Amino acid sequence: MSVKRKLVVGNWKMHGSHAANAELLQGVLSAQPFGCDVAVCVPFPYLSEVAVTLAKGPLAWGAQDVSAHEQGAYTGEVSAAMLAEFGCRYVLVGHSERRAYHGETDQIVADKAKAALARGLTPVVCVGETLAQREAGETASVVKRQLSAVVHALTHCIGEIVVAYEPVWAIGTGRTASPEQAQEVHALLRAQLAAATPQAAQMRLLYGGSVKPDNAAILFGQPDIDGGLIGGAALKAADFVAIARAAG
Ligand code: 13P
Repeated sequence: MSVKRKLVVGNWKMHGSHAANAELLQGVLSAQPFGCDVAVCVPFPYLSEVAVTLAKGPLAWGAQDVSAHEQGAYTGEVSAAMLAEFGCRYVLVGHSERRAYHGETDQIVADKAKAALARGLTPVVCVGETLAQREAGETASVVKRQLSAVVHALTHCIGEIVVAYEPVWAIGTGRTASPEQAQEVHALLRAQLAAATPQAAQMRLLYGGSVKPDNAAILFGQPDIDGGLIGGAALKAADFVAIARAAG
């Protein structure tokens, strides 16, 4: 029996407004306490207000991306040091939408994870295969390659990260990986981590991709699934709370 707490992270993606954020966070806060760790990863402009709203706990917050660079002439980028100043605990790194629309390579993702850790942020490193890759039988090789770049870059610090398995074909599609499909990949990732760090068993591996209140419990009940990375359902307080409750 593992004693680690599960982790449920809401990824708001490019959604929100002052009014909507306040309502959503009040809805989630009014449901506390939670039996798992809960965090929200919000658009950069809202970090300041979220930090104020969540200052008393118990929710943590974070961003959805971070620069691989420390500082300098990188227009539009946000550094890990800046995120740390806003009290971020987590930052998503290598989300499939960033890999697909912003050209993020495995190496860039690894560099971003390293930059985050250097400033005390926990990178939530996202990996996952496309539908074409799954159908070609490449799921294992794709996720292993994606994680391997990060393992290589972080070496002995790899135990500090959170990994999120998000099959691209399950994101925003309503088509969730079955618990067996998700567990199979999580077990692979855990084994890969175990070869790199003695902390692998304590690391949190999240599943993401159309997690909803009605499928969360069975997914989170799998031996190597330690919580979820939630997109659409994180925008509705009642759904997000129900998913957090399913985690513990
Ligand atoms: P959905 O929960 O909307 O499928 O999004 C998953 C995701 O991409 C979280 O990062």
